[in-house]
Parts: sequence; C-alpha cells; structure tokens
Amino acid sequence: MKGTIVRCLKSLVEEKAGQETWDEIVTESGVALPKIINLSMDIPDGDTVKLLESACKVLGLTLSQAADAFGKYWMTEYAPAIYKSHFDRYRDARAFLLGVDDIHRLTTATVPNAHPPRFDYEEVDDRTLDIVYNSSRGMIDLLMGLARGVGAYFNERLTVSKVGSDRVRVRFS
Ligand code: HEM
Repeated sequence: MKGTIVRCLKSLVEEKAGQETWDEIVTESGVALPKIINLSMDIPDGDTVKLLESACKVLGLTLSQAADAFGKYWMTEYAPAIYKSHFDRYRDARAFLLGVDDIHRLTTATVPNAHPPRFDYEEVDDRTLDIVYNSSRGMIDLLMGLARGVGAYFNERLTVSKVGSDRVRVRFS
C-alpha cells in the first residue's frame, strides 16, 4: 500500500493523541517503519494493517471506529491539503463519491506499483448510491469510513451501510 495511507494515519494520531502515542502504536505493531514516510513509497499491505490494528488496540477503538476517524481526517484535513485540485472538481458528496474511481486512477497513474481499489457504481435512486468495491485487500470498513468523511467534507448528512460483502449503500438526505 502506498505510504500516503500510513502517513495520514500517523498525522491523525500525532495531531489528536501526540507523538508518543504514535511511537507506542508503531512499537506495539512490530513494524519496522522508515522515519520519513513518502506518499508514493511502498509499505507492505500486511504492515499497514498491523499499524491500523495496533492503533485500535492502543486507542481502544473498534476497526470501524478507527476507519471512521481515519476517513473523516483524510477527507476534511489531510487530502484537501495534498490533493486539492480533486476537491475543486466536485460540488457535492454524491458527485465526489462518483468521482473517487477517477481520482484513484489519476492520482496513481504515474506511480509505480500502485493498486488502488476500483469502484463500480449503481445509482439506485435520487437519494441512494451503491458502491461496489473491487479490491483484493478487503478494506471495506475503510471505504465506509472514507464515504462518511465525504459527507463531513461537504457538510451533508448521509448514511453509509454495508449491503453485501463487496457493496456499500450511501443514502443522501
Ligand atoms: C482525494 C481523495 C482520495 C485520494 C487522493 C485517494 C487516494 C488513494 C491512494 C493513493 C490509495 C493507495 C492505493 C495503493 O496503495 O495502491 C488509496 C487507497 C484506498 N482508497 Fe482512496 N483516495 C481518495 C478518496 C477515497 C474515498 C472517498 C474512498 C471511499 C469512498 C476511498 C477508498 C479507498 C480504499 C478503501 C483504499 C484502500 C486500498 C484498497 O481497498 O485496496 N478513497 N486511496
């Protein structure tokens, strides 16, 4: 997985819980993490998962709670600062979510070894969008947290639920 994911996690933990807590999470995970994490460096998927699990343990969160915190931070603080141009292209949460597959392709097109998830969409009705998740990583909890983060960024109330092993339903109010 690209370093940007762990870099965001590190920045979230350091900002909300302090650098010592991040150090504790890394030690607890057993991952030998480089001191400087570049956006496009490769961090093995297993190490990324170990760091997430360790963050849950140290902070006393479920995976779903951690994914929600990550998704909100990614969408409202981390990504707008780093990937700003993509935010300017979308007017609301639905349009942004429909654009994420494109964003993934554009942000990783020239990055060697990137394998972002691919999304298919089904527009169920005016207020309901299904996102079909295609990835071997099985990180659908993270997808749900990020989709909720999209709602937070656009100040929209939306509900996100899992309606299949690879399908998430977003209802807009
Ligand atoms: C500006 C917004 C976003 C950018 C720039 C972005 C970029 C990325 C990048 C670079 C990766 C790592 C890919 C790799 O290592 O091969 C990733 C992973 C991921 N992204 Fe995004 N992303 C964005 C928003 C979102 C949103 C809103 C969602 C969900 C609705 C999402 C879902 C995921 C998931 C679930 C992964 C984990 C990898 C996997 O499941 O295979 N992303 N993203």
